[in-house]
Amino acid sequence: MKKIYLLFLILPSILIFQSCNNTSSNAKATKNDLNQDANIERKVDSVLALMNLNEKIGQMVQYAASWDVTGPASSEGNKFKEEKLKKGEVGSMLNVTSVKAVREAQKLVMDNSRLKIPLIFGYDVIHGYETIFPIPLGESASWDLEIIRKSAEVAAIETSAAGVQWTFAPMVDVSRDARWGRIMEGAGEDPYLSSKIGVARINGFQGDDLSKNNTIAACAKHFAGYGFGEAGRDYNTVNIGEHELHNAVLPPFKAAAEAGVATFMNSFNEIDGIPATASKKLQRDLLKGEWAWNGFVVSDWGSIAEMIAHGYAKDKKHAAELALNAGSDMDMESYAYEAELEKLLEENKVKLSDIDDAVKRILRVKFQLGLFDDPYKYCDEEREKNEIYTKEHLEIARDVAKKSIVLLKNDTVKTKKSALLPLSKSVKSIAVIGPLADDKDTPLGNWRGKGKYNSAVSLLEGVKAAAGDDTKIYYEKGIELTSKTVAPGENQFLHLMEFNTTDRSGISAAVNAAKKADIVLLAIGENAFQTGEGRSQTKIGFAGLQQELLEAVYAVNKNVVIVLMNGRPMDITWAAENVPTILECWHLGSQSGFAIADVLFGDYNPSGKLPVSFPYNVGQEPLYYNQKSTGRPMSTQVTYSGYNDAPKVALYPFGHGLSYTNFSYGNVSLDKAEMAKDGEIQVSVNVTNNGTRDGEEVVQLYIRDLVGSLTRPIKELKGFEKIMLKAGESKVINFTIDTETLQFYTANNKWEVEPGDFNVWIGGSSTTKNMAEFVVN
Ligand code: NOJ
Repeated sequence: MKKIYLLFLILPSILIFQSCNNTSSNAKATKNDLNQDANIERKVDSVLALMNLNEKIGQMVQYAASWDVTGPASSEGNKFKEEKLKKGEVGSMLNVTSVKAVREAQKLVMDNSRLKIPLIFGYDVIHGYETIFPIPLGESASWDLEIIRKSAEVAAIETSAAGVQWTFAPMVDVSRDARWGRIMEGAGEDPYLSSKIGVARINGFQGDDLSKNNTIAACAKHFAGYGFGEAGRDYNTVNIGEHELHNAVLPPFKAAAEAGVATFMNSFNEIDGIPATASKKLQRDLLKGEWAWNGFVVSDWGSIAEMIAHGYAKDKKHAAELALNAGSDMDMESYAYEAELEKLLEENKVKLSDIDDAVKRILRVKFQLGLFDDPYKYCDEEREKNEIYTKEHLEIARDVAKKSIVLLKNDTVKTKKSALLPLSKSVKSIAVIGPLADDKDTPLGNWRGKGKYNSAVSLLEGVKAAAGDDTKIYYEKGIELTSKTVAPGENQFLHLMEFNTTDRSGISAAVNAAKKADIVLLAIGENAFQTGEGRSQTKIGFAGLQQELLEAVYAVNKNVVIVLMNGRPMDITWAAENVPTILECWHLGSQSGFAIADVLFGDYNPSGKLPVSFPYNVGQEPLYYNQKSTGRPMSTQVTYSGYNDAPKVALYPFGHGLSYTNFSYGNVSLDKAEMAKDGEIQVSVNVTNNGTRDGEEVVQLYIRDLVGSLTRPIKELKGFEKIMLKAGESKVINFTIDTETLQFYTANNKWEVEPGDFNVWIGGSSTTKNMAEFVVN
C-alpha cells in the first residue's frame, strides 16, 4: 500500500492508472454495460483507497466559473476556488469553456494536487454548442428520433472540441403548463414521447463509447417533478400523487437510466413537502436502488442550500446532511458539502460509506470518459478550430430546423381559391413584416450555449435567398417587441424583459407594405429570452404591440401567413380565427431563416406535429391531451367539467400538424380481439397519401384502458412512426401491443397490466377517432 501511495506522488496520473490494469484502459462505456466495467471498478476502488477525507469531499464539490453565471453568483470571489483546485479539493467545474480555459483549470489540479484526479467540466449544452439547433421543444415537434440523436451528436462534437466533456442535458421533465418558461427545454407534455426523445438525445451525446474524445456525458434532469410546479411558476411547489408521479413524471427518467445516462441532476422543487434534493425515496431508493443505476447525481445550482429557504433545513450543515443522506452526490454551488461534511461525519450524522459511494460514482464517470488516461484529452486546439460551427454542422442544423416546423393552419383563401402555402417562387411581391422578421438573435432561443449574438439567419434573409429574382420583397419591422435592447456580451440570460407598449411609429409603414404586397409574412411571437429558466408568465398571448400590428396588417391584406417564433404554447386564438395560415417556427436556431423559407416555398413539405397542446387561452393551463375523464366529462348542461367561457379542449391539440399533401387512414385492424396479460396483439393501419406531393406523416398510436384500479387517461400515446409516402402511395403500418404498451403503475404500487377492455386508435393527431377495441384477459 505504501509503495503504491508513493508511486502516486511521483508519477502523473496517466501512468499511474494504467498500472492498475495491464490492458489498455480505454474502457468502453456502452449503453447497458455502462458503469459495469470490471476494470474500471478496480481502478475506482484503488483510487478511493488512496484518498483522504478532504480529497473525497472535494470530489463532491462543483464550482462555477464566475464569468459565465447561470444561477445566483457567489459573493465570495474566485481566489479561494483556485486554492481549492490546487489542493485537489474540487471534483468538477461548470461554465468553464474553451480549450484554453479548461486546460488552465485542469493544470491547477494536475500540477499541484497530491493525487492528480482530473476535473470533469460541465456546461449547459441544451440545443447546440455554437451551431444552434431548434430549442428542444421545437426539435421534439419533428418526432424524428434520428435527427434528434444527430443534433445531440453534433452538439457533443462541438462541446468536446471546446474542452468540455459533460452537458447538463437532456431535460426530460414532462410539462403540461405553457406558463412555465422551461417548457421550451423539454419534449412537451407526453411521458412516452419524452422518453423516446430523451433517449435519442442521450444516445447522441454519449454515442456508444463514452471514452472517445468526441462524445460527452449526458445528464437527465431535473429529478423530479420540476415541470409540475403549481401555477406554472418556476421553482414552485409540486403536489402530485404517488401514482401520477410514477405514471406521468418518472418514465423518461427511467428510460434515461436504462439507456445508460452517465449523470442525473436533482431538482429545485419540493414534492409533497420534501425538496427533491433531500428525497431519499427518489435518489437512493428508486434511482440507485430499484433502477440499479450507477452514475452520479449532481445537485441543481444551489439546490442544497436552498433547502433552508424551503424551510426544510435549519442551516447549511443540516442541508448538507439531508442532501447526502438522500443520495445527492455532487454539490453544485451550495458550498455546503465542503464546509460541513467532515463535521457531520464526526457527529455520525452522515456515513463514510455514503461519501465513498458518492466519490466512487464520480470517479467512475471520469474513468469512463478516459480523463484518467489523459486529463487533457479534450484540449485539442486543432479540433477546437476545425470542428465547431462548421458548414456540415450548419447543414444538419438546417435539416433539423425544417423538420421541426409545424403547419398549424393553411386554409383555402377565397380570392386565390387555394391555400397560401406553399408560396410560388414567382409570386410577384411579398411583404416581410414584424419585429422578428429580420431578427438574427431571437431564433437562437434561450440556453444557446456559445451561439453568437445575432448569428442566426433571419426570416428576411431566408426569404430573399429563396424567392425568385422577379419577386419584389418589402420589409418593415412595424414595431419593436422589447423596449430595452440588451447589448451584445451582456448576460441576456439574467436580463429582465421589458416590452414596447407605446411606440407605434412604424405601424403605418408596415400597413403600407402590406397593402402593396400579394402575400404578407408576419413574424411575431416571443423574444428568445421570454422562455427558459425563470421565465414564467401569466400571459401567453402576443406581448407588447404585436396583436395591434397583426390586426392593422390583416385589415388591409387578408393574405397573411403568421410565422410564429416562440418557446411555449401560446394563446393565438384571434389569429387562428381570422388569419388563414399559421406556421409554428419555434426558435429554430442558427439556420432558422433558411429552414423557414424551405417550408414557405415548398422545397420541404412540413411534417412536424405538436408535442404540446395549444390552448384557447391561458386560463385552461395546465392543458394536456392525456387528461382524465372526470365524473362529468360532457353534458349539455352547465354542470360538467369544462368552462362556461371557453372550450375545455385545445385550440391545436397534441400531435396536430398539417402537410401540403393529405393523408387518409384506413380502419384500425387487429390480428385478434383478445390477448393474455403477457401476450401480444398486432395492430395495423393503411395510410395513403391522397395529394399530389410527396410527404411525411407521423402515424400515432393511442390507447385507453377503460376501467382500472386507478382511473386512466382518456388517451395515451403508446407508439408512433414517421413515414414518407410518395404522392398517391399507400403503406400498411404495423404496431405491436404488449405488456410494455399496456402496463401502468397500479393501485398495487407495481407496473402491471390489468385485464379488461381497451380502445386503440391510430391516426395523425391525438384527436383521431379511428378506433378499434380489444380485451385483455
Ligand atoms: C440551474 C438549472 O436549473 C439547471 O438546469 C442548469 O443545468 C444549472 N442551473 C447550471 O447552469
